[in-house]
Order: sequence, then structure tokens, then C-alpha cells
Amino acid sequence: MSAVLEIQGLQKTYRSRKGVRKALDGFDMVVEAGQVHGFLGPNGSGKTTTLRTLLGLIKPNGGRMAIFGREVPEALPEVAGSVGAIVESPQFFGNFTAHDTLSLLADAGGVDQGRVFEVLELVGLRDRSKDRVKTYSLGMKQRLAVASALLKNPKLLILDEPANGLDPGGIREMRTLMRTLAESGMTVVLSSHILGEIQLICDSVTIISAGRRVAAGGVADVLAQHQTSSVRVRVESLADLTASAGALREIGAQVVVEADHLMVSGVAQASAITRTLASRGVFVSELAPIAVDLESVFLELTGTAPVDGAHRQVDQSAMAPAVPNGGWGL
Ligand SMILES: Nc1ncnc2c1ncn2[C@@H]1O[C@H](COP(=O)(O)OP(=O)(O)O)[C@@H](O)[C@H]1O
Ligand SMILES: [Mg+2]
Repeated sequence: MSAVLEIQGLQKTYRSRKGVRKALDGFDMVVEAGQVHGFLGPNGSGKTTTLRTLLGLIKPNGGRMAIFGREVPEALPEVAGSVGAIVESPQFFGNFTAHDTLSLLADAGGVDQGRVFEVLELVGLRDRSKDRVKTYSLGMKQRLAVASALLKNPKLLILDEPANGLDPGGIREMRTLMRTLAESGMTVVLSSHILGEIQLICDSVTIISAGRRVAAGGVADVLAQHQTSSVRVRVESLADLTASAGALREIGAQVVVEADHLMVSGVAQASAITRTLASRGVFVSELAPIAVDLESVFLELTGTAPVDGAHRQVDQSAMAPAVPNGGWGL
């Protein structure tokens, strides 16, 4: 098995006095070595539950999980030394400096003190490492958290929402850091509810909605699979719009008639549109391919696209069917 991380059919039901909540409903995930893998889903979709279960912090109700090909939680004691993780935002003592904090953690974990300087350098805190943590910005605290997870030089790094609270510059630096780590052979899994972050940072992605995987693969592949490339067509005279739609449907196109243009899909070559319309004496004044971005794929897959006149509630996301291919043994 080449996968660093495999999850199949994971189930987690929370029971409380208020009732039963199914947080994970047969969730699958595969992460290959050396990737920066994005774990993307709206708030409440089950990301933190998945990561906590994987790390043995909570017990699943069903399913299988493996890290480096070893079944967990059984093999956690053997693999834990190679896994660095930040799942809940860690609390640091405000009166300690970053250096003190890491130095203590290094001692506790049997890590050489020299490594403290290396990780401070890596996360870009070198010049502020002698300042007290309480004087840090949120972004600097996030860096310190990443530094603490890097101390033992893990082969797998798991970060839950690491870019939360970072400004665009911070996100860019986080991306550079993740890339550097991946190039050094580390596999990185990071969760986010913000698509832009994943799109910028990751090679591959697993999209979760309502406790189930709704899409997975390379960022570009996920886009391509769900891409319905369409073309916006304007014609010289608005009066020709309806007739033009009819002509394009005759050649097998799907056409949506808008107020002043047509949205046309299902045509292999855009030239087929101009040729068809010209043969009817209608001339195209604009032909614009509409690119699908990951944002709209995400909104569509997770059912979190805004609906006119409705206020989406937290638990309201699509119960889309799980991805049929993939899963255990990929
Ligand atoms: N300790 C808990 N008790 C009951 N429900 C929980 C608990 N933790 C999480 N949940 C619920 O499980 C679902 C998934 O939560 P979570 O894994 O935190 O999602 P995410 O990290 O994607 O935002 C949510 O509906 C959340 O309210
Ligand atoms: Mg979470």
C-alpha cells in the first residue's frame, strides 16, 4: 500500500442528552505520499471529527483507518512517532517565548534542542522567537503551533484549519512552507472550510459534505470532472435569440436562454456555434467560454450555494452520494 493515510467507511455518531448526531456517515479518504492534501468541507461537515478519530482522540462507530499501511487505532503507538498533528488550536503560555515553549516541548519529547532553531527558522519565527507568546498575532501563534508539530520531524503532518485567521500574506507563506515540507518528503494533510486556501496550497483534495466524501482527486481533476464547460453567446439582434437557441439545440447543444444572451454547453467546438448561426443568417457578437472554478464545484457538491430568499442553516448541506470509485485499496 503506497497510501500514507487510508480511511474507509468511517462512522461516527455523537450521542448526548439532546439526541443523536451522525457526524460521519461512511466517510472515505486516501492520501498518497509526498502530497499536500486538502481536506475541504463546510463548517460542521465532519473534518475535525475525522482527524480526531484518526489520532485516537475519539472512538469511531465503524469503518477502517490506516496510517503508513498500519491499522489504527491499534497501531497508533508504533506510528505516532512519525505523525505530527494539530487538531484543536493549541493553548500556549502567554508569558513564555516561542523559544521557551518549543524548548520545553523538545525536552518532553526527547527531541534534540538544535531542532528548536530549525523549526523556528522553517516557520519564519526566528526573529521573534525571544518575544512572549502573548504579544503574538494569531498568525504567529499558528506558526508556533505548526513549529511544535514539526519538532519530531514527522513523515505525516496533519493540520486542522491551519490558515484560520491568517491574512493573505500569511496564507501565501503557509503555502510556501507546506511546499517546502512536501519537497522534503513529508506528507501534509490540512483541512479548511475555505476553498481558496486549498486551491492555492494543495496538490489533491478530498471534499466532505455531511459526513460523506463527495469528491476526491487532484485539484485540477476534481475541477475537470465536474466541469460543464459552457459558452456565453450574444448575437447581433436580440430578436434572433429564441430562434438561435432552437438552431443550436438541433445540433445537440444544451441551451439556456437568458435575457440578452444564451448559455450554451455540450458543443465540442465553439466554431460549430458560429457556423450554425451564420447559416441561419444570425451573426455572433460575442462568444465567451465560461470557466468553472473550484468554488462553484465546491458549492454545488456540498449544497452550500446560496439560495435566493433562504437563510442556510448550519446543518443544511447536501447529502450527496459518496464517490463510487476510490476508497480502500486504491
Ligand atoms: N462532541 C460533540 N458532541 C456532539 N456533536 C458534535 C461533537 N463534536 C462535533 N459534533 C457535531 O458533529 C458535526 C461535525 O463536526 P466537526 O467534525 O467539528 O465538523 P468540522 O470540523 O467539519 O467543522 C457537527 O454537526 C458538530 O456539531
Ligand atoms: Mg473543525
